[in-house]
Amino acid sequence: MSDYNQDAITKDVLAAFANTPDPRLRALMTALARHIHAFAREVDLKPDEWLAGLRFLEATGQISTEKRPEFILLSDTLGLSMMVVALAQARASGQAKGAIEATEATVEGPFYWPGAPELPLGSDIGEGVPGEPAFYMGRVTDLDGAPLAGALLDVWSGDGDGKYDVQLSATPTMRARGRFRTDAQGRYWFWSIRPTYYPVPDDGPVGDMLRATGRSIYRPGHIHMQISAPGHVTLTTHLFVAGSPYLEEDAVFGKRDSLVVDFEQHPPGKAVDGREMQAPYYSASYDFRLAPAAAS
Ligand code: BEZ
Ligand code: FE
Repeated sequence: MSDYNQDAITKDVLAAFANTPDPRLRALMTALARHIHAFAREVDLKPDEWLAGLRFLEATGQISTEKRPEFILLSDTLGLSMMVVALAQARASGQAKGAIEATEATVEGPFYWPGAPELPLGSDIGEGVPGEPAFYMGRVTDLDGAPLAGALLDVWSGDGDGKYDVQLSATPTMRARGRFRTDAQGRYWFWSIRPTYYPVPDDGPVGDMLRATGRSIYRPGHIHMQISAPGHVTLTTHLFVAGSPYLEEDAVFGKRDSLVVDFEQHPPGKAVDGREMQAPYYSASYDFRLAPAAAS
């Protein structure tokens, strides 16, 4: 087929979408068609490769369940999820007039479980969870550094073996999850464990893709936090464990340097909050800054 005919195909497809009533849908569909055609032409896509791609998407759909969202994993491992997160944060900070930037956001991932118990500050969500104890503390502020009292931190992580509660059984019990409200000075503190690196679910088509392309299947050690406060943009982020394996090869491109935190090791004894520790433990300190919500 001549170049002229290839151009005509793209032109016809764009014309077919031109009357889409919703302008945003029209923009999305025409840009998608343009880029997908450009991709096929750039790689000179062969019929068997095209079919293999379709079969891959079919397998991605077939393995997907609510608890195993393989398409989201595909988006994560292609860096598309992080791109959408970065675009959303840039859009929100474009509206914010603050002295400093908001804390960087990163991917939510598939293991968020809404409805974790709201617990008093200082509670231990790592009780009975394999792993080394870690004390987390810091503040939640606005972009000018003013404390946000009553901000809600929704926290979740895998255990010291790299497993989330939802991966352990078909009818899991919540663990290493909790919600905490900051005090009048915007402070938070709680106990959990120091999380470790773990593989993303890799027994499906996305795992096959990662292996076929020689990519890492691992995420570095991190704890997830979703932080909300009235009048502010909700922040979904992680704290990454400094020195963790795979910090530079995060399978989902979620690691941000500004979110890497030292977990200081302490000998047994009295911890900062007065708790008597029988074994060595860690502490991590991090202050979160939330952007103001756009005026509506
Ligand atoms: C997670 O951090 O929980 C996660 C994120 C993306 C894919 C798999 C896991
Ligand atoms: Fe995670």
